[in-house]
Amino acid sequence: MTMTIEQAGLMLADPLAYTDEIRLHEGLARLRRESPVHLVTARGYLPFYAVTRHADVMEVERDGALWLSEPRPALAPGSGAMSEGFQVRTLVNMDDPDHRVVRAIGADWFRPKAMRMLEARVRELAREHVDRMAGLGGECDFASEIAVHYPLYVILSLLGLPESDFPRMLQLTRELFGAQDAEMARGDAKDSRINVLMDFFTYFQELTASRRAHPTDDMASAIANAVVDGQPLNDVETMSYYVIIATAGHDTTSSTIAGGLHALLTSDEGSQLARLRADPGLMATAADEMIRWVTPVKEFMRTASADTVLGGVPIAKGESVLLSYPSANRDEAVFASPFTFDVGRDPNKHLAFGFGAHYCLGAALARMEIRALFAELLPRLESIDLAGTPEWTATTFVGGLKHLPVRYRFR
Ligand code: HEM
Repeated sequence: MTMTIEQAGLMLADPLAYTDEIRLHEGLARLRRESPVHLVTARGYLPFYAVTRHADVMEVERDGALWLSEPRPALAPGSGAMSEGFQVRTLVNMDDPDHRVVRAIGADWFRPKAMRMLEARVRELAREHVDRMAGLGGECDFASEIAVHYPLYVILSLLGLPESDFPRMLQLTRELFGAQDAEMARGDAKDSRINVLMDFFTYFQELTASRRAHPTDDMASAIANAVVDGQPLNDVETMSYYVIIATAGHDTTSSTIAGGLHALLTSDEGSQLARLRADPGLMATAADEMIRWVTPVKEFMRTASADTVLGGVPIAKGESVLLSYPSANRDEAVFASPFTFDVGRDPNKHLAFGFGAHYCLGAALARMEIRALFAELLPRLESIDLAGTPEWTATTFVGGLKHLPVRYRFR
């Protein structure tokens, strides 16, 4: 059944719409074609304009003075504040001048030199997770048993947390980001979000106190001991930093790894998998194609600081736009055969990491993790096939496959 343009727009505020990617992309393609800056008035949300073309998403992200992250950095019910009833102010909420200063605190840990130092550890973690898969026998749910753990272990290693705390962090980040999906949320959605944030707060408050008393050389120490304008970060700022690092680096990368494997198994009857195995030199382009294909971050928002016009549509000061990354990354005007998964795609100007001042801080790390996992996995596999129906997370924000049953044989 074909949908109306209104129905296509409403999908952007409907978590369930993201569990059916064929229908979702049908709607997004329609919006790009017919109404690329489209006013959406969805029940329970303030109105917003859905921006679905690659060029328009870039135009917004390029101009951080006109298009602000505050007060509505992402789609949330009600007033639009990210976390009603509980204050978190992370990098994604901030605009300059604060954004520049606070981003700099973490930025050193993501520079090429830091990435090279982390590489051996990432390889080791990739190997451990492939071993874990081998240990599960010939069948597993690759999304929930393998892909979900590995990126979190990388992030927590980067922060410097003890391995004994990893399971608790895994649970908390899943609850926070999966809050729109019944299977993952904890109790009532709004209470759940506040309780999960409270648990984070307690954990990271203790961590901060400990790193202030006994500084180490990890990222948690850098955050705990950061000084801005002669002052240490306050509790909310410190905890927001941990939250953004622990959450942003987790479901994003695990969704890409699960979705990447799914694409290898299903595209062109598995020929992309054969191609990548035959030519591991394609690993870098393959990782970026997985990121484009999955686009695990579904949206961020910006609010106009002055009256303006976008894609021919007048937008008043104070009105918000939703940047649809999945749509931008299938834009026919930019990508040749956008609905083809091509491990050799080059160039690949996807916007899955955003663009401009907020460009994903962890992009190099994410790429390294994805490459390391497949570089360990593929040579050890004799065969791998789908063993059931994959399922996608219900979310308007961050997610991808939550279940990917596979059957396999290791060499
Ligand atoms: C495939 C994996 C990932 C994807 C697709 C992704 C995507 C994104 C996107 C779309 C943004 C917002 C960009 C914008 O507004 O223009 C972002 C911001 C951010 N990401 Fe990632 N991310 C990934 C992995 C990671 C990892 C591994 C980390 C590491 C901790 C990370 C840390 C961050 C941080 C700190 C920000 C906020 C940057 C700012 O606002 O200045 N991300 N990411």
